Amino acid sequence: MSLTPITLRAIEISDIEVVTYWLKEPRVAEELSWHFPLTFEGTKAFFDMLASDQRNKGFAIENEAGGLVGLTMLYGINDNSREAWTGTLIAPGNSRRRGYAKASRLLLAEHAFGELNLKRLLSKISRSNIAAEKFLLSLPYSEIVETDESYDFKIFELTRSAWRQSNHPI
Ligand SMILES: CC(C)(COP(=O)(O)OP(=O)(O)OC[C@H]1O[C@@H](n2cnc3c(N)ncnc32)[C@H](O)[C@@H]1OP(=O)(O)O)[C@@H](O)C(=O)NCCC(=O)NCCS
Repeated sequence: MSLTPITLRAIEISDIEVVTYWLKEPRVAEELSWHFPLTFEGTKAFFDMLASDQRNKGFAIENEAGGLVGLTMLYGINDNSREAWTGTLIAPGNSRRRGYAKASRLLLAEHAFGELNLKRLLSKISRSNIAAEKFLLSLPYSEIVETDESYDFKIFELTRSAWRQSNHPI
């Protein structure tokens, strides 16, 4: 799947080393709402978990030069409620603020609503993660209040009807 400036492709074993390197950069691991050991084996276990469970769909994000710049994923796809969680990581440093995450999530939303027939996408972020909050609002997700959720996190949703009504470029 492609949308300028990115292409989504299957995640490959050869991506593990690069992703582990990103996760070890200062503050990157703290930005995520999922945690695992910051080692090659920890990243491999995460990739294996994504690949072995049909409720997950993970993609590598490549930029126009064919370089790996991030990961974007649906996880916990629920066939009954027709909902899924969504997450994205863009390589720290100069790959950010180039529209890579946004393009990846527009493709993911169209895939989720158009092909998988899902009704709602959710994202959970740390309350302190302002970049992620602005990013989600730009898609446009909106914040919802979950009374049993920890104060440390915020939950955002994108419904299929909100997606259809939004002025997205796909
Ligand atoms: C959040 C994250 C995915 C954004 O990736 P990105 O490729 O830099 O985002 P984009 O360039 O597609 O930005 C899309 C919009 O998000 C908002 N945004 C992104 N980063 C921002 C920042 N640091 N500060 C304020 N707004 C930001 C802006 O509205 C931006 O549009 P603009 O650049 O036209 O103003 C990236 O910072 C990241 O990987 N963070 C760590 C992982 C994480 O928090 N993931 C949570 C995703 S749910």
